[in-house]
Amino acid sequence: MSDAATRCANKTHDEGHKVLTQAELRGYDGTDGAPEYIAIHGIVYDITNVNLLKGGKHHGVASGCDVSELFVHNQAILNRLKVVGKLV
Ligand code: HEM
Repeated sequence: MSDAATRCANKTHDEGHKVLTQAELRGYDGTDGAPEYIAIHGIVYDITNVNLLKGGKHHGVASGCDVSELFVHNQAILNRLKVVGKLV
């Protein structure tokens, strides 16, 4: 059981609602078994299990990065990806 201070310091409220900074996002680059996350327009997605996207194989889409400027598809394509939370 965590005390109030610990609970409030923990930015992970529940699954799908993490709040990540750019620096924290960088860590999710797939190295040393880390998950692979990307951010697009303020939303962070988990691409660890998306073969097309993971490992930097998809047109310069690099894990651990904000790739908003690379995004060329319709927004609807993002609805299929697992949301981790927000980028702040
Ligand atoms: C920036 C983030 C991007 C994300 C999240 C993304 C995501 C995706 C996804 C999920 C698909 C599969 C579509 C399907 O199954 O119908 C796809 C396909 C595709 N994407 Fe992207 N994409 C990104 C950037 C790009 C860029 C920069 C390019 C090219 C300049 C590109 C070119 C393509 C092409 C040509 C396909 C067709 C299938 C294939 O390449 O295997 N994408 N993308």
